[in-house]
Amino acid sequence: MIKKSFPNNFLWGGAIAANQAEGGYNEGNKGLSVQDTVRYNKNLNRKDLSTVKKFSSETIKQALQEKDNLESYPKRRGIEFYKYYKEDIALFKEMGFKVFRLSIAWSRIFPNGDELEPNEEGLAFYDQVFDELQKQDIEPLVTISHFEMPLGLVEEYGGWQNRKLIEFYVRYAKVLFNRYKDKVKHWITFNEINAVNFTPFTSSGLVKDRIENYQQATFQAAHHQFVASALAVQEARKIISDVKIGCMIARFTTYPATPKPEDIMQMTHDDQYKNFFFTDVQVRGYYPSYMNRYFIENNITIEKVEGDNSILKKGTVDFVAFSYYMSMISSANPEHLEQTAGNLVGGIKNPYLEASDWGWQIDPIGLRYSLNQLYDRYQKPLFIVENGIGAIDKLEPNEEIHDSYRIDYFKKHIEQMREAIIDGVDLMGYTMWSPIDIISSGTSEMSKRYGFIYVDQNDDGSGTLKRYRKDSFYWYKKVIESNGEQLD
Ligand code: BG6
Repeated sequence: MIKKSFPNNFLWGGAIAANQAEGGYNEGNKGLSVQDTVRYNKNLNRKDLSTVKKFSSETIKQALQEKDNLESYPKRRGIEFYKYYKEDIALFKEMGFKVFRLSIAWSRIFPNGDELEPNEEGLAFYDQVFDELQKQDIEPLVTISHFEMPLGLVEEYGGWQNRKLIEFYVRYAKVLFNRYKDKVKHWITFNEINAVNFTPFTSSGLVKDRIENYQQATFQAAHHQFVASALAVQEARKIISDVKIGCMIARFTTYPATPKPEDIMQMTHDDQYKNFFFTDVQVRGYYPSYMNRYFIENNITIEKVEGDNSILKKGTVDFVAFSYYMSMISSANPEHLEQTAGNLVGGIKNPYLEASDWGWQIDPIGLRYSLNQLYDRYQKPLFIVENGIGAIDKLEPNEEIHDSYRIDYFKKHIEQMREAIIDGVDLMGYTMWSPIDIISSGTSEMSKRYGFIYVDQNDDGSGTLKRYRKDSFYWYKKVIESNGEQLD
């Protein structure tokens, strides 16, 4: 029997992250997170990530001196989901959401990261959010760590290169599982775990000017996250009945620049080192052999403790989640090829694809290709937990927002998801990014909007924060109502 379209229990919804949405950065005893140190650069070049990715001991010091500055640190204010969560969840319900992906701000629960007891006010906040979701019959999908670790773990322990972080993370995860075991059944251990290679500060708390062998530190940090994730998987299974817990990567679908065998080989390696390494360990439960050569040639020695291999083996995941925004190109001779920007990292321009205003290459067929590839490799259910387009939207005088470009983007991607399901892929659900405008992760802009819901806030934080339904809001509602059949 071949499937003809989306299964009846398909989980339609949307995804956000605490640090980009909540605000309330110092309320309820919350500690500072790495994101609270990320300053908005007014002179940023949207297509050049080097103008935004500037993290150092100096930027942390400045942020600590400017503790009360909300204007220059947009993630401290988010869109005030901390206050507006009921209203926002009601809007998600209106669109018919079955699932809502959110992350928990680690520094709300453990303000410095290394405390022995959690902060009750932080836990109580998420109780209220989950209760509201339950009331609206929306399933939560929770990311335990989404680029928002407590700053204390960076300042006092050096981030994830330190093995102590495993203990702190597992304590934190166990607190969440015990507290929310009746309310949350779907979990993701780390957002885009492969981001350690591209945004080591926000994903893993690595401060470049404090580290001697930076590449070694990133892979050591990744190892500690793998072990922490595998331990959390085992704990979740002990504590929560019928739990589903997954891993997640930022999927960089990769094509060769030409049919030249050298380019194909380069593509194979890029795919292995930047993507599959991270899922292979978490799905198969061991380090893939192709990494041995990479580690030797790059002078990397992963320090493992006895027992780590068996922890990885016992902590394999139930499903594979990934974000998908764009595809990439690999070339053995990239020097003279035109470059473009992208999610977390830039790359070579594909002449066959259009790009967003931020230079991210739009490739719906790449999503079908990726779904086939990942399912073929792992034979585990897949979950697309981020996909969307950042764009400049205009609020018209009559309070409407005509975002046909966004509808077009989603329509083409959902069509390809359906094709992949017919191809035989087991796809559990789809949480697009992000149902409501939030602060951009990469550039900290408000004007890079992803939402079906417009939030009246400017880059400098001015605005009423009022929410407005865009044209795409009504469109997505119909998509969910028709279980993916009505896309026009
Ligand atoms: C993903 C992150 O990498 O990309 C999200 O998990 C992020 O947190 C999303 O928001 C889109 O990136 P940006 O930089 O446009 O916000």
